[in-house]
Amino acid sequence: MTLSRREFIKTAAAMGASLAWAGPVNASRIRWHERRDLFPEGVASGDPDPNSVILWTRRPYDSGKRYALTVEVAEDEGFSRVVAHARAPVMAAADWTARVLVGGLKPAHTYWYRFTDAEGNGSRVGRTITAPRPDDPRTVNFAFVSCQDVNEGKLNGYRRMIFEDERAAPADQLDFVLHLGDFIYEVVEYPEEVKTRYDRTIYEVARIPDGGKIGKFHFPLTVDGYRAVYKGYLADPDLQDARARWPFVAMWDNHEFSWQGWQSIQKAVKERPGQSIKVAANQAWWEYLPSRCKKVSGPSLETFDPPAVTDVAIEKWDENGLGDEPNNLAAINSLIGYRTYRYGKHLDVIITDQHSYRSADPFSDPSLAKLGGEEFIDMAPEPLMQVLDGGRAFNGGNPPADVSFGDAHVPNPQKDKPPQTILGATQKAWLKDQLRKSTATWKIWGNSEGALDGRSDPQNLPPGLTKETWPKDTYAAMSPPDYGMAYTERAEIYDLIRDAKITGFAIVSGDRHSFWAGYATSQLPPGKFEPVGLSFVGASLSSAGTMEALEHGFPKDNPLRPLFLADRPGAAKPDWTHNMLLRHGVRSCLEYAKSFDLQRARSLSNPELAPHLEFVDLGGHGYAKVRLTGDEMRTEFVCIPRPITRSDRPDGGQLRYRVEHVARIWDPGERPKLAQRVLEGDPGLSI
Ligand SMILES: [Fe+2]
Repeated sequence: MTLSRREFIKTAAAMGASLAWAGPVNASRIRWHERRDLFPEGVASGDPDPNSVILWTRRPYDSGKRYALTVEVAEDEGFSRVVAHARAPVMAAADWTARVLVGGLKPAHTYWYRFTDAEGNGSRVGRTITAPRPDDPRTVNFAFVSCQDVNEGKLNGYRRMIFEDERAAPADQLDFVLHLGDFIYEVVEYPEEVKTRYDRTIYEVARIPDGGKIGKFHFPLTVDGYRAVYKGYLADPDLQDARARWPFVAMWDNHEFSWQGWQSIQKAVKERPGQSIKVAANQAWWEYLPSRCKKVSGPSLETFDPPAVTDVAIEKWDENGLGDEPNNLAAINSLIGYRTYRYGKHLDVIITDQHSYRSADPFSDPSLAKLGGEEFIDMAPEPLMQVLDGGRAFNGGNPPADVSFGDAHVPNPQKDKPPQTILGATQKAWLKDQLRKSTATWKIWGNSEGALDGRSDPQNLPPGLTKETWPKDTYAAMSPPDYGMAYTERAEIYDLIRDAKITGFAIVSGDRHSFWAGYATSQLPPGKFEPVGLSFVGASLSSAGTMEALEHGFPKDNPLRPLFLADRPGAAKPDWTHNMLLRHGVRSCLEYAKSFDLQRARSLSNPELAPHLEFVDLGGHGYAKVRLTGDEMRTEFVCIPRPITRSDRPDGGQLRYRVEHVARIWDPGERPKLAQRVLEGDPGLSI
């Protein structure tokens, strides 16, 4: 794993000038004076390995095409022990962003870095940490985060993360931040057009040149549009401080390209061919987030060099639902995000892309509306969703001709369609290979989308509460159409883990704007509950979540309101029974909304509903911390109050709660088991 200088130069021969090699220690000879205003997006580092890391900054100029900065890497914050310095080109063609790969560094070592222009104007000082060697048994600490909307919120979560890390013992400090997407929201509101949404004040983020608009949302259609959004987001001081403190390992979710987009199709309510938009999104992501992701134009770190593509409708699809259209393929392969990130003896993070290769949404055929069931808010019969997900492969290739809800029937719209894939065939084969090959104690799948089923048991509602009747013995699927409903694909991966006797498997994810802890299982009762690993969802750093939306929009007189919100007499805000619905079922919720007796409500829990869940908070915000050793995985949810204004406290404001879930490593064939502990605060109805 340790590259020699010669190998490093050879590997990086095609990388252009953005290369530095650590050598003998010297005091800095650069006349650096800090001018943060000239480096308005700060500094960052990404994807460290045991010997190298990519450093990043942006230094815009008013004219010209190319300038040279100097980057220095030191063993101390005062730069008296500089180990590397090199030229770092900044170019208009990369929107004045610069990336430098620094090699020859020591493993598991903390470094400081800074950029300086020809006049001595300097960036702020950043800190980064190299990875341990693959055989290094040391404890690994990382945070996983997602969904940092700064149009509608503030990043108090990062402030809290920094505050705690600065005060933690060295062995407990974070080694890196795993960012699971929604680094930006490409849909941007303008404060003069919309003042508030839910509890939120709309803050200025960016003006999008040559963009589109749907409702009150503006969105980019060009690389300059996406760049404007990244710059708007990186103006946030807490995000800048976080990027200057830790290396980030990042993956995009949906909003780095398009809210409801898939493959290269741009979709904000309406679909449009978006090959050039997908390339633009990839280019801006590559320019603003330093990573080792492979771009099609080669390994140079100077510029992205986008492939030329045309926006054309995709008319042909292959057997996996991949758009068989050259511009589509060129666009989605212009930047390959999936990769494995090795960190010491105990960790492989296997990172996948949930949007570039996924097949068409199988759940939204307009004919399904004829089935009715609208009374059951956000609930769909689980067996129906499984049929739709399975497509032509359902039931061993014998899908039903019709699908039904009660007495209503419609032809099965997915009967001849491929089974849903979120990963696509190529990436899925890669993922399976990575899982089989991994030699790390913990194989952590960084999947931007939540993979835990959210379901409820409306079959247990008392008769007469609703006009329609829920089908007998039928659970309701309630998770968003994400990995929680990718039944076929999930089973394929989980079955591989079971059959190959892979242990230490865990999923960390984001996207759902809520905290979830539980187990990875292909089936739930009445099917076989067979956990093959752990599964976690981290809450949004700031983006609004389900409970906030329900507090604002759920009708007071709806008979199912107690399943979502319980109005305690005299209380300013309702209690979040939705959390209880997913953990315990309808009987617990109805009891709680009547008596507010938590113990009595929990005594009515349906044990068959959610054996896979230990914790759900659809109203949580914050971040998750993971601590890994050869023996255990410790996952801590750090929950902050709704971050609608920037906290004026150095710790980012008070906590709502801190809860940990600990699992010991298990033997092949053994079931993983989480032990839960509330360390601080009150997680309400989440348990
Ligand atoms: Fe999000």
